Amino acid sequence: MKHPHAITLMTLLLAGSAATAQDKSVEVVHWWTSGSEGAALKVLKDDVVKRGFNWKDSAVAGGGGDNARSALKARVASGSPPDAMQMLGYSITEYAEEGLLGNVDAVAASEGWDKVVPLPLQKFAKFKGHWVAAPVNIHRTNWIWANKAIFDELKLTPPKTFDELVAVADKIRKAGYIPLAHGGQPWQDATLFDSAVMSAGGPKFYKEALIDLDPKALSGKTMEKAFEQMQKLRTMVDPAYAGRDWNIATSMIYHKKAAMQIMGDWAKGEFEKGKMKPNQDFLCFQYPGTEGSFIFNADQFGFLKVSDKQMAGQAALASAVMDKHFQEKFNQVKGSIPARTDVAMDGFDECGKKSMSDMKAALKANTMVGSFAHGHAMHDKAKAAATEVVAKFFDSGTSPAEAARQLAAAVAGAK
Ligand code: GAL
Repeated sequence: MKHPHAITLMTLLLAGSAATAQDKSVEVVHWWTSGSEGAALKVLKDDVVKRGFNWKDSAVAGGGGDNARSALKARVASGSPPDAMQMLGYSITEYAEEGLLGNVDAVAASEGWDKVVPLPLQKFAKFKGHWVAAPVNIHRTNWIWANKAIFDELKLTPPKTFDELVAVADKIRKAGYIPLAHGGQPWQDATLFDSAVMSAGGPKFYKEALIDLDPKALSGKTMEKAFEQMQKLRTMVDPAYAGRDWNIATSMIYHKKAAMQIMGDWAKGEFEKGKMKPNQDFLCFQYPGTEGSFIFNADQFGFLKVSDKQMAGQAALASAVMDKHFQEKFNQVKGSIPARTDVAMDGFDECGKKSMSDMKAALKANTMVGSFAHGHAMHDKAKAAATEVVAKFFDSGTSPAEAARQLAAAVAGAK
């Protein structure tokens, strides 16, 4: 006898293809507009089209997704939500809490998602036992990407401590290159902060401060150390950093203008789109002091509550997103690793393989933690308030002690 859930899914999909009343398009809001992001998304679009649905693309430019999230809010407020939206961490939970998400439980049960999706991702993909989102990837934020030609030319090796990073940056500057390619947008500053906090205090401290929101951890000496790192990182960037998009910063590594970028592995997608190869043209290593921990940022597609006739489209999208072969292909282009633990890694590059094995080790050691910068550590209001403090500090630099005090106050005020 067939698995009962399999019948449910099949019925749902057949309903989609047979009944004329069904809407045959799926509208997806997302912010994947860089070259590699667009190429990765195309893999998904093609699969959805193969399943008999039109892909209605609603791209809202802006790395990190702030603009797209505002656009979704407006859509929902005006009563016209899309079928699905690229969502991160607590945004999913908050939409679910407000009763704005539907679910794709039938697909998830028939395809056995419970068994293959890492638990830290399920925490956000599921709400009160229902699959309200489908995870498409696992990015990691505590990476440094380096131009190998510059490192070779200056006989540099990846720094193992923060002090070594400072020394390496000095040599790079003296040789006439920009040590750190960075874009001064709040979410990018916050991405540096993910690593600085982990490096200053380790995973236990990261959790106390950024996930448990312990006021002492947020305002204390260790947090001051994290801000001291931020202060030093600030000295490594070029004067024109303000407002620069992340992929423009990545292109500075590509064009050998800058030596390093601290960024999630979507940066790797850009290198590979430009035919740069790991360990030949670029290097990937962990921000010093964060080796052994895995700060994750997983993109998911959240399913908005829609009319019955749109549900077949959502089911098709959910099934496409979680397809093993799709995840293999998509994540090779995107720079991330699959959001399921049973995908063959043979076709991934060295950085991708390292990411997967590091993640498995971090899962065991309980050192896999959600990215603050990308909404996986604290709820969105606190994240926005904390990000503002971090970005202001990066641009105008009060003292690290004052910044730590402001951080604790901002988080407390946003509770
Ligand atoms: C992140 C997202 C990544 C990447 C990045 C830059 O928030 O999770 O997939 O696209 O923004 O746009």
